[in-house]
Amino acid sequence: MATIQFAINHLAHAMLINVLLPILLRTAKGPSSDVRILSTTSMGYGFHPRSGISFEELDAHSSMSRLMFGGWIRYGHSKLANILYAAELARRYPEITSISIHPGVVATDLMWNQSWQTRWFIHITCWIQGIKYLTPHQGCWNQVYCAAVAKNDELVNGGFYYPVGLHSPDKLDKAASDDKLAGRLWDWTQSVLQRF
Ligand SMILES: NC(=O)c1ccc[n+]([C@@H]2O[C@H](COP(=O)([O-])OP(=O)(O)OC[C@H]3O[C@@H](n4cnc5c(N)ncnc54)[C@H](OP(=O)(O)O)[C@@H]3O)[C@@H](O)[C@H]2O)c1
Repeated sequence: MATIQFAINHLAHAMLINVLLPILLRTAKGPSSDVRILSTTSMGYGFHPRSGISFEELDAHSSMSRLMFGGWIRYGHSKLANILYAAELARRYPEITSISIHPGVVATDLMWNQSWQTRWFIHITCWIQGIKYLTPHQGCWNQVYCAAVAKNDELVNGGFYYPVGLHSPDKLDKAASDDKLAGRLWDWTQSVLQRF
């Protein structure tokens, strides 16, 4: 069905959204309602497979192993799904504000639990790009801003947000901006979730 990473990072969130959707839609009908769904993605989405979402591997129950960078590719795959799914959700339910968010590079357990090689890779790529690590406290800023500080009409529904509060379609590659791929992911996701 999918890698564990894809199941946790994408399918589990999609399942939660499905469960909450009826009440979110009812709430959105209320006077001056402001219903938002924020999906935490990552600039690491860029490590996704060349095809974007690899439906063939998902359907083949493949572990998506690779000779090199397998962990990054599986992570990027799931994080691309977060971006596409948020955009598709906005297209299907415009009465709900649905956006995806990159929190920044944050010194959390996600980072410290990596192998030393991966930590060095992150360290070097951040150093080259002049990116400074955020503290976990700072790593919440983008989410808090988009959830509670920005007025609803200041947010672009379906958009991707870079810290802090910056709508950044320019940071999305072809796959992450592909409406057709997002629609296909939506259909694939619903067909999988129907079984549960
Ligand atoms: N840190 C960064 O630089 C960075 C950058 C971009 C995006 N993000 C995104 O930010 C989000 C949070 O990451 P973080 O940096 O806060 O990492 P974190 O401190 O390691 O937190 C990860 C959370 O995910 C939970 N989790 C891990 N594996 C799980 C599983 N198999 N089933 C259910 N829950 C599981 C953990 O639960 P337990 O505490 O119970 O283990 C923990 O609460 C992720 O979506 C990540 O992709 C992080």
